[in-house]
Amino acid sequence: MWWFAKHKKVDIIAAGWLEGMTDIHCHLVPAVDDGSRSLDETRQLIEAMRSVGIQRIITTPHIYRRYPHNDSDTLRQAIERLLPELSDLEMPLTLGAEHMLDEGFETHLAKPLLTLGDSKYLLVETSFVGAPLDLYRLIQSVISAGAIPMLAHPERYLYMDDKEYSRLQGAGCAFQLNLFSLTGMYGERVEKRAQQLLERGLYSFVGTDTHRIERFRKTIASAKTYARYEEPIRTLMSNNQTLMPPHEQCTSRASM
Ligand SMILES: [Fe+2]
Repeated sequence: MWWFAKHKKVDIIAAGWLEGMTDIHCHLVPAVDDGSRSLDETRQLIEAMRSVGIQRIITTPHIYRRYPHNDSDTLRQAIERLLPELSDLEMPLTLGAEHMLDEGFETHLAKPLLTLGDSKYLLVETSFVGAPLDLYRLIQSVISAGAIPMLAHPERYLYMDDKEYSRLQGAGCAFQLNLFSLTGMYGERVEKRAQQLLERGLYSFVGTDTHRIERFRKTIASAKTYARYEEPIRTLMSNNQTLMPPHEQCTSRASM
């Protein structure tokens, strides 16, 4: 009986785990990165996200060399243009960004920071192949700029080991789980790594990292993980909620 309870899996969508979620990681600004390709796709994504229970969104376009036009100014302008086109959907939506920690990163610290929904958290990522040589210097530069680095999907950095995760937390990083890592979307190794980090209590926040409509529909059609993770996930979701700006929010304007 005990074994059964520990190993029972549930469909997290059918079980309503995402009900009331504030998603703090997704790529909904059309045609600025590898996320939504058009206004129409953004609208479909918002409807699909709402259908699984997501109620507020901080969208996080990529800022890194591959998308040289993206910086805090151009993305703020893009969301100002976008929000009136979405107002009829009545989905609270505001802006953040996902910053790649690479050699161009520090130029973005010289501009007004594009934190998550005007909070103190700056969403950062590394390559999936390896960390930059000066990773800890870059993390310190975020802190010196007055923000807290939140590392996106640490479970997907399979090059990291336990020692590295502890060192990152010691350096002041918060960790954000990619929810669908737990359902096997990125393969078994990432799923196991996400389980380990969740069981060690290393995550503080959770995002969906939604990019495109076809993939999102496929993902939510079959999204299963262990029932015992419901409580820790709910804790992460309530942390997410603290990041959404209080002055409701922005179907007609960006918060920053
Ligand atoms: Fe992302």
